[in-house]
Amino acid sequence: MPEMAQNTNDLFEIIRTTRSMRRLKPDPVPNELIRQILEAGACAPSGGNMQRWRFLVVRDPEIKQTVGAYYKRAWDEQAAPRYRSGEPAPGMSRERFLRLLGAAEHLAAHIHEAPVWIVPCLEGAAPTRTSGSSIYPAVQNMLLAARALGLGATLTTLHLQFEKEVEAALGLPPGAHSYALLPIGYPVGRFGPVRRVPLTEVVFADRWGQPCRDL
Ligand SMILES: Cc1cc2nc3c(=O)[nH]c(=O)nc-3n(C[C@H](O)[C@H](O)[C@H](O)COP(=O)(O)O)c2cc1C
Repeated sequence: MPEMAQNTNDLFEIIRTTRSMRRLKPDPVPNELIRQILEAGACAPSGGNMQRWRFLVVRDPEIKQTVGAYYKRAWDEQAAPRYRSGEPAPGMSRERFLRLLGAAEHLAAHIHEAPVWIVPCLEGAAPTRTSGSSIYPAVQNMLLAARALGLGATLTTLHLQFEKEVEAALGLPPGAHSYALLPIGYPVGRFGPVRRVPLTEVVFADRWGQPCRDL
């Protein structure tokens, strides 16, 4: 497999290699890089350009410890048993699936050690699929920006299993809700290509189920 550049400005390479990086070094991330990630987030589209997003940058070890404990509980009590008794993702070998579970387990035990978290929130909207549409483009922009800067990150949502407790620990005011938690840091491993099912299985032409042969 070709070696992947740690830093790159090639958009398509960034897209192809922005995968979840769950093993992170505790080394601090320079503020300038965090600012660049946040600027990328704030460039995203939102419904009516209302930009009701608020980005909580968490570096306080006590807050990370408290919220991290809820994340670990959600992993141990709900996600891990479900994944362990379930099927691997489409097209994924059992061996690769077990590696993924190992990485997710590692993140659950060490999420508080990531030097910085970004918690993307929305103000003033009850969390729904529609409101989510106005924050997840910003989340993806931030994941891509982190990758471009050689930083690892993962889109996580497990903390939402303890939404009330976590939002209290994060000090969110009433009416503000978190939609994700992005632990960010320098990755232990190297970036590599994302694994996805081929387009032929997910793209249809004009009619549902009709293969798209000319693309
Ligand atoms: C809505 C959503 C929620 C996710 N929540 C978690 C999470 O709580 N913990 C975690 O380790 N990964 C989480 N992920 C990451 C996915 O597991 C990951 O993106 C997927 O397995 C594909 O792997 P890749 O990102 O390495 O390509 C989440 C991803 C999405 C899109």
